[in-house]
Amino acid sequence: MGDVQALLRYVFQTENQLTIPVSGTGSAAMEAALCNFIEPGDDVLIAVNGYFGERLVDMAGRYGAQVDRIDRPWGEVFTPEEIEANLKQKSYKLMAIVHAETSTGALQPQVAEIAAAAHRHGALLVLDTVTSLGGVPVEIDAWGVDVAYSGTQKALSCPPGLSPLTIGARAREVLDNRKTKVANWYLDMSLLTKYWGSERTYHHTAPINMNYALREALRIVDEEGLEARFARHRTFAELLWQGLEDLGLPPRVPIEYRLPTLTTPQLPEGVEDATVRKQLLSEYNIEIAGGFGPLAGKIWRIGLMGYSSRKENVTLLLAALKELL
Ligand SMILES: Cc1ncc(COP(=O)(O)O)c(C=O)c1O
Repeated sequence: MGDVQALLRYVFQTENQLTIPVSGTGSAAMEAALCNFIEPGDDVLIAVNGYFGERLVDMAGRYGAQVDRIDRPWGEVFTPEEIEANLKQKSYKLMAIVHAETSTGALQPQVAEIAAAAHRHGALLVLDTVTSLGGVPVEIDAWGVDVAYSGTQKALSCPPGLSPLTIGARAREVLDNRKTKVANWYLDMSLLTKYWGSERTYHHTAPINMNYALREALRIVDEEGLEARFARHRTFAELLWQGLEDLGLPPRVPIEYRLPTLTTPQLPEGVEDATVRKQLLSEYNIEIAGGFGPLAGKIWRIGLMGYSSRKENVTLLLAALKELL
């Protein structure tokens, strides 16, 4: 348990004592990142530019928050200035934003500036790093993020089933000063800290097979080193981006905020989304995802995460696409 926590602090680049793997997939830690800090009636601001921002809105509302949202079309990102303009409107307790939107392939820049704006207006910043952690820089302490969560099955290359969560001092204080009990018993960090702290007090049966798997996955990350890992994700993403351009499938997201772990090429007229994906799977054993929501039928979603971010995968996919198209 101690190894897992120390290694999670390393990948999150944080000193936060309260850094643990939550039992359950990414959505479990997403839920924990909200329910531990929200009390009924609290004002919460959510930035929505894709599917997972929508999920944050839904979850926060279920815990009784008064949710306001700031929207951008799917695939775009936010500026700290527009977020600050919204933060000024009310006394928000918390704001949440997705770092890497898996539904669009956009990587939110300037998280440090957004965190500073949140703090100027007395709000906590919650950051979704499900598709960024372990694949692109996530600097929780340097950026001043109060709460961040992720999943094990993306760039950490571990089976799904746990979700890393880190909680900083400012957020801890909010948790310690709640007037009401956390509405979700299973995810109540004030209870879980006793299990993950020195007391090791039973809370719920730990999924220990997953804890061992995560320990090993994180040891592999540590062995490679974060900097080398980020560089590898970048190198093979760039190889993919160039190859897609050459095939007439340009990535939809501008390069300034394009996500290396998930690329979203735009489909040209006449390319049959489902047919090509089916052939890729049956003839080449390669699975890529389609778009959904407003991007359904318009893009593909190609993951290069963790172990799968390799030259041979990119080369094979590009060759297969060339043939099929
Ligand atoms: C950005 C983002 N947030 C949250 C989640 C939810 O994680 P899970 O599906 O592991 O519950 C996902 C899953 O793909 C995601 O991509």
